Amino acid sequence: PKPTGPVVFDGMVVPPFPPLLQDAGKRFEEIKNMECRKDDVIVVTYPKSGTHWAWEIVTMLLKQRAEYSKEPMECFFLEAMPDFNFVHNVPSPRIFNTHIPIRWFPNQHIENGAKIVHVLRNPKDIAVSMYHHFKNVGILGDVENFQIFLEKMFMNPKAQVMDGWFKFEKDFEKAKKNDKRGAIITVHYESLKKNPVQETKRLAEYLNVELSKEEITEISDKCSFKKLKLASQTVKDNSLVANVELFKKTEPFVHRKGEIGDWKNHFTVAMNENFDAIFKEEMKNSNIQVQFE
Ligand code: A3P
Repeated sequence: PKPTGPVVFDGMVVPPFPPLLQDAGKRFEEIKNMECRKDDVIVVTYPKSGTHWAWEIVTMLLKQRAEYSKEPMECFFLEAMPDFNFVHNVPSPRIFNTHIPIRWFPNQHIENGAKIVHVLRNPKDIAVSMYHHFKNVGILGDVENFQIFLEKMFMNPKAQVMDGWFKFEKDFEKAKKNDKRGAIITVHYESLKKNPVQETKRLAEYLNVELSKEEITEISDKCSFKKLKLASQTVKDNSLVANVELFKKTEPFVHRKGEIGDWKNHFTVAMNENFDAIFKEEMKNSNIQVQFE
């Protein structure tokens, strides 16, 4: 039977991906216990932080080619891929993407000290991006506008997805502190947007990929908002996930606007003051540098 309300697992509301709706515990355990390879890379984000963008850049860098992946990112999306056994057939280097919190990461990946590319985006723009995404996919329920979404979903511990932005990011901050081998790199969405070539180069260095300045520039250019949007619309049609309804519906919103600061078009002064007060309280013991502009 289809669940009527949101699916909650380990205290988290999980996104409505078919495997999680079916049996979230099973999929989380599969991920936790998966067989890992030393050269696996996991791109991890809180939803709407630029997952596809970063995943495509990392994939191009590791394949050392400025060519779009023939299989869409959904095929390598740990909690969403239709058949988890698919992971065994992916040739190395495998570049996965996920929104799972760090405590559910594959044990072996952590033991191996294997690479984790963590993308961090400011939560105001994430809220806006998620609102439009949910609205377009039709999972907002009786939430009528952005203000209600912000209060009742994004900032509500009982309704926010995957731990909510604050806990998700603070847990990553802790993991980074304990990461003595430098396995985790954090890329800020805003830095990638402002200095795409420089940030792509930093990623290349972290991934130990030697490419010329021209090659790095080409990759960063091919992953620019307009070009990536255009390319993604065609890539899914011949893929393993071509028939997954949810992914068909989400495509236009995975590449919606791609800007920093769209929150200013959605937050009223009062909403912003309220958000800032909660942000200040939540982040009082954190050193995460969030770029709202
Ligand atoms: P907006 O809704 O603000 O436009 P995810 O891939 O994690 O779902 O994130 C989606 C967000 O990243 C969307 O934000 C999308 O437009 C933005 N995005 C995707 N590709 C981008 C790119 N190449 N440059 C900038 N933003 C990008």
